[in-house]
Amino acid sequence: MPQQLLQHREAGKGTPLVLVHGFPFDSRMWDDQLAGLADDFRVIAIELPGYGQSAPPRPFTVASAAEEIHALLKSIGALPCILGGLSMGGYVCFEFAARFIADMRAMVLSDTRCDADGPEAKENRNRMIQVARERGSTAIADIMEPKLLAPDTPKNRPSVRQKLRQIMESVSPQTIEHTLAALRDRSDSTGRLKTISVPTLIVMGQQDAITPLAVAQAMQQGIPGARLAIIAGAGHMPPMEQPDQFNRTVRDFLLSLR
Ligand code: MLT
Repeated sequence: MPQQLLQHREAGKGTPLVLVHGFPFDSRMWDDQLAGLADDFRVIAIELPGYGQSAPPRPFTVASAAEEIHALLKSIGALPCILGGLSMGGYVCFEFAARFIADMRAMVLSDTRCDADGPEAKENRNRMIQVARERGSTAIADIMEPKLLAPDTPKNRPSVRQKLRQIMESVSPQTIEHTLAALRDRSDSTGRLKTISVPTLIVMGQQDAITPLAVAQAMQQGIPGARLAIIAGAGHMPPMEQPDQFNRTVRDFLLSLR
């Protein structure tokens, strides 16, 4: 049993819709979902270990994060739940599904992948760990930022870029280091896709420079009955870049299951 519970922010009532953030963000990346989906769901935005109020920094794995989220949801009476995650949050969803599928009603995977890091990606994680240690969170934000948003987002929605910077720079270098190790060492969920027995929606930003569309299509084929939705005008961060389109897509999918 984890010694301390993760922190979270929530809004609304009804079926729990649990959202797990990507790297290196925190629950604030889901502000538009906390505001926009709370009429239909109890929206719960998780803070992974070291992030937001879940400080101080401590090591974790993608699998231990899934277990901690389950413990939190149990303690706040939020099971069974709909589980959603973006990128790293999606990796956590796969580990949660592998352990607690009976506590899930549906899954929403945004801009994520099911495979593990290959040797080159692992090397890159180690280089990023060095950058975090030597030059801190701002240097990490400088490396991440150009890959995160669709080309037009900074022009059309400058506040999204500002907010992303603010979030990334607020994450401590130790938490970045712990997370990079967790991402580097995560397991491959490809072989488990067929065991995902809950309705699943895969969402992808049309201009995501981090997650190839082919990966999303392979996940759709692997997860029985999964649907794939493409969000126009978004890169790797559809919930922030196109919140109305993202919320409508998720709401329509989930309400169609009722
Ligand atoms: C994320 O957005 O969570 C990251 O791109 C995940 C990763 O680096 O694998």
